[in-house]
Amino acid sequence: MSVPVITVDGPSGVGKGTISHLLAQHFGWHFLDSGALYRLTALAAQRHGVDLADEAALVVVAAGLDVAFLPDEAGEVKVVLENQDVSREIRSEVAGNNASRVAVLPAVRAALLQRQRDFARPPGLVADGRDMGTTVFPQAALKLFLTASAEVRAQRRYKQLKEKGLSANLRGLIEEITLRDERDRTRSASPLKPADDAITLDTSDKSIEEVFAEALSHCGNSLVRR
Ligand code: DC
Repeated sequence: MSVPVITVDGPSGVGKGTISHLLAQHFGWHFLDSGALYRLTALAAQRHGVDLADEAALVVVAAGLDVAFLPDEAGEVKVVLENQDVSREIRSEVAGNNASRVAVLPAVRAALLQRQRDFARPPGLVADGRDMGTTVFPQAALKLFLTASAEVRAQRRYKQLKEKGLSANLRGLIEEITLRDERDRTRSASPLKPADDAITLDTSDKSIEEVFAEALSHCGNSLVRR
């Protein structure tokens, strides 16, 4: 039986995570945070003394990732790496940047491919990332690609980090986001770009509720098997 999949791709800080979560909740589907797998690969590598440019060693780390995504008491997802809660640690800007560095390496991406596809289980999956619609789930029933200016995304990220009690600097965030986008867009393996059949939603001047409503409006009846 083929499992229905909605892909939500776009650059960092565009609100993919929030919209994907809302869609998954709405339909009662599973959720894949593919960026977390790249963040975890970089973190596990650092913990095991593996250089973030050593592709062969990183493949071993990615293939052997000992990770669990568990629901916590607050209804959030707890990310456990090698029996340790790293939910907060993987959300830092440094972790995001390290993830973007290891994500450039084709063999690392290949090592994570099947693990991502395994998230597609009944009744359905919402997959959040950069190449969900182009590479990981090319047959997805609905492909969304979210965009927003770097300034808007940096401001949103700034707010998110502050709310989580993490340190943040707006000017630095704009620079980091621009740099990370550039790396994600220009890499040769599965670069960040909309699939040919993706629907692009510009979220710059919209609230979460507005973007969610727009996303839902694209979910036809064929997709909704509750
Ligand atoms: O979505 P995120 O910010 O957690 O992703 C962190 C980095 O991981 C991102 O800058 C690029 C990489 N990534 C990727 O290459 N492909 C994905 N499907 C998801 C993330």
